[in-house]
Amino acid sequence: MEAGVICIMKKINRRHFLALASAGAGAAIFTSCTRGNFSQTSPKASLKPAIDLPKLHKSSNGLLEVDLEASYRAVKLGDKQAYLLAYNGQVPAPRLEAKPGDKVRIRFTNNLSNPTNLHQHGLHIPPTGNADNVFLNIKPGETFNYEFTIPKNHPAGTFWYHPHRHGLVAEQLFGGLAGLFVVRGDFDEIPEIKAAKEEFLVLQDFALDGEGKLVDSEAHMSLMSGREGDLITVNGKPNPSFSIPQNGLLRWRIVNASPSRFYQLMIENHPFYLIATDGNALSEPVETNQLLLTPGQRAEVLIQGNQQPGEYRLLNLPYNRGGMGMMGGRGMMGGRGMMGGNNNDNNNTSAVLATVNYDSAVETIPLPTKLLSVPILPKPQQVRRFTFNHGMRPGVGMAFLINGKSYEHQRIDTQVKLNTVEDWEIVNTGTMDHPFHLHVNHFQVISRNGTPEPYRSWRDTVLVRKGETVRIRISFRDYTGKTVYHCHILDHEDLGMMANLEILN
Ligand code: C2O
Ligand code: CU
Ligand code: CU
Repeated sequence: MEAGVICIMKKINRRHFLALASAGAGAAIFTSCTRGNFSQTSPKASLKPAIDLPKLHKSSNGLLEVDLEASYRAVKLGDKQAYLLAYNGQVPAPRLEAKPGDKVRIRFTNNLSNPTNLHQHGLHIPPTGNADNVFLNIKPGETFNYEFTIPKNHPAGTFWYHPHRHGLVAEQLFGGLAGLFVVRGDFDEIPEIKAAKEEFLVLQDFALDGEGKLVDSEAHMSLMSGREGDLITVNGKPNPSFSIPQNGLLRWRIVNASPSRFYQLMIENHPFYLIATDGNALSEPVETNQLLLTPGQRAEVLIQGNQQPGEYRLLNLPYNRGGMGMMGGRGMMGGRGMMGGNNNDNNNTSAVLATVNYDSAVETIPLPTKLLSVPILPKPQQVRRFTFNHGMRPGVGMAFLINGKSYEHQRIDTQVKLNTVEDWEIVNTGTMDHPFHLHVNHFQVISRNGTPEPYRSWRDTVLVRKGETVRIRISFRDYTGKTVYHCHILDHEDLGMMANLEILN
C-alpha cells in the first residue's frame, strides 16, 4: 500500500478539476489510484438492526471481560436516523472501566466489510502480541481475543479505544467507531472530585446525507485537510442537556473522538478548572475560560455551579487550524472549497454543542487545591528532531511526511532504549496544525518555541501549530517492542504521517 499518496482523481468532476487546474495546483497531485483509501464506508456487509446491549462494562474481581463487535448499524443520533459503523450497535461505543492491576479480555469480532483492529489510546500497556498491537489486521468475519493487564501503577484517567488499521483509520473513526476506556483509581478518591457530579462527553462529528447515510469520503474531498462533518454530537446526540448542582461541582471528562475536527470549548459564564490532561492528573487545578482539544486529546475539568441558576451553552468557538498552503486553506471555492469539504467549518462560526442547566442546590463543594504530584523527569540522554510537513513528491503526488518520509510498515524509523529519557523536538514546517501522538508512553511538554510550558503535565497527544517547535520529554518504561507515533488528524496518519518506533532492551 502506498500510504503517502493522495488519489483524488476518481470522482472529481470536471468543473472542480478545471477550477483546481486553473488555480495552478498542477496535475501532479492527480496520480493513479491502485487501491482506494476510499469507499470504505459503502458497506457491502448487510445492515444490522439496532441492539440494546449495556452501555457500560466494568471490571469485577480484577477482570474486565467484554465482547465487542464492529458492524454497520442503524443508529439514532438524537432524533436523527443514521447508518453508521458501531461497536455493539452503539455510537459512541460502550464505556469500558477497569482499575489498575485488572486484567482485560476483549473478544473482538469484525463484522465490517474491511479489515480493522483495536487501539487503546493512551493506555500504558504492551504494544505487542494481543495487547495494544496496531499492526494486527483483523479481516472481515474474524474474531480476535485481546488480553492485557493494566499495570498496578497505571494512572487513573480517561482513555479511549478506536480502530487503528493503517489506511482505514479516519474512515472507520468517521463512521462512528470510538469508545471510552476509563481507569479508576486514586485520582477519583480525592474528596472534592469524588463529590463532583461526573459526566463523560464524547465529541464526534459526522457527514451524513439526507437519508442519514455516511457521505462517501470521495464525495466530500476533505482528505488533505482532514475530513470534518457538519453534524456534531456529544455522546451521540446533537445539543444534549447536562445539569449542574447549584453550589456543587460538575466533573466533565471530555474526549475529542473526531478524526480531524478541533474543539475550542467554552461555557457561558463558567470558567473551566482543568484537572487532567489526556489520561493524567495535574498537580493542581488550572483555571481557563477556553479549552482547546485536538483529535485524540482528552481533558478533565471541574465546573462550579456558582452562577445565577439558568441555562448556559457549551460553545465550540472558531479555530483556524490552517490549510494546504497551495490550496489556500478554505480559499478557492469559497467557504467549502473542493479541497475543503467541511474543512475548518468552525473557522468563523460558533456552534452550540450542549446546554447546561442548574439543578437543585447542594451543600457547597469547594474546588480541590491539590491533586496528584507530577514528577520532574531527569535530563534527557538523547535529543531527536522530527519535522512534520506535507509536500509534493515527484511522481507520487501530495504526501504527508515525518522527516521527509511517508509511512512504511517495514521500516523502523526510530530506535530507543528502554528505561531512558529522551527529548523530542517536533518541528512543524507546514501550513497546517498537526497534533502529535505517541503510543504506549506518556510524555511531558517542556517548551513551545523555546517558551517553557506554564504547568507540568503528562500527555499522549500534543498540538504542534503551524510553524511551531514543541519539545517533549519521554520516559520509555516497562515495554519493549514496535509501536508508532503519528499525526492524530487521522487522514494525515492514513496518508503517511506516521512512523515506527522500536523500543529495545
Ligand atoms: Cu488515537 Cu495511534 O491513535
Ligand atoms: Cu493512540
Ligand atoms: Cu496532521
